[in-house]
Amino acid sequence: LHTSLHTCRKPKLPPNPLPPFYCCPPASSSSEPIHFTLPDPAEPLRVRRPVHAVGEEYMAKYERAIALMKALPHTDPRSFYQMANIHCAYCTGSYRQTTHPELDMQIHFSWFFFPFHRAYLYFFERIAAKLLGEPDFALPFWSWDVPDGMRMPPEFANSSSPLYDPVRNPRHRPPSLVDLGFVGVESNRTDEQQIQHNLRTMYKQMIGNAALPSLFHGQPFRAGQSDKPGPGTVELSPHNTVHTWTGDIALTNVENMGTYYSAGRDPLFYPHHSNIDRLWEAWREVGATHGYRGHVDFTDPDWLDSSFLFYDEESRLVRITVGDVLDTEKLRYKFDGVGMPWLDARP
Ligand code: C2O
Repeated sequence: LHTSLHTCRKPKLPPNPLPPFYCCPPASSSSEPIHFTLPDPAEPLRVRRPVHAVGEEYMAKYERAIALMKALPHTDPRSFYQMANIHCAYCTGSYRQTTHPELDMQIHFSWFFFPFHRAYLYFFERIAAKLLGEPDFALPFWSWDVPDGMRMPPEFANSSSPLYDPVRNPRHRPPSLVDLGFVGVESNRTDEQQIQHNLRTMYKQMIGNAALPSLFHGQPFRAGQSDKPGPGTVELSPHNTVHTWTGDIALTNVENMGTYYSAGRDPLFYPHHSNIDRLWEAWREVGATHGYRGHVDFTDPDWLDSSFLFYDEESRLVRITVGDVLDTEKLRYKFDGVGMPWLDARP
């Protein structure tokens, strides 16, 4: 499945959306996108570490990266405005399927969930590094799956920080504990009960219910089929639930985090997805270390050859395939600094 810039058009938005209402990226100076190539293997390996452990100084870098992106003109494909629009365009039917223009591209509720968001963060991280002038800058992750990370990191709740987003649920500021099963109703668990509940949810979604690629990744979505064939375990929860937990439940669509078109407008989106990306690595790793033979990626060419469009840190339009993003080491980053305490939380 492929898309093209030429066919990008107005998004289909839910009722009462917050502006802006147009999500397609700016036109490219060259007529066709270039093909993605892997970074130089001699590049330093970026190490993504948890927000709660990385330290103030490091978080100040992320804060500065967001401030720099926000300061770029909206027409710049590396601006925060356009970063947020990428997500909107890929999940509101802005993009059509190249071979079936009557059908939408949509990267949620199917096997594109993990690879699309990985590619998205890859470019986001490199743009941040470039703007910062720090070639080894790595995107920290919000590890809501371990007890120390189960609150919104305080940096994001400081109203004078560029990491702040006023369009959130005011009840979920720190020290409120995240509910990985949140669907809009406050739980009345104690903190200790909530932590155990979260760990059990993690076990279920990563191990118990995710024994096959289609269960973990989501259902195949091929050119000519209609979108959203079915989500994987982690996409539904904790992914969607943390989005809903963060957004403002008093608004029609739980903006910003709680709905596709606006989620990328919250600077917390990127550390949230950095953790989702880490869980893909964790799922494969646990498969290898625990003998879960189904914890392997699809080998179907319809998955591997499907492509997405992004602007890179040099503002070049790039076409990247699913097959390009399967090995984080080749993309020159890895995850570190936190364990998987939910492995022992078998319900
Ligand atoms: Cu594309 Cu967290 O959603």
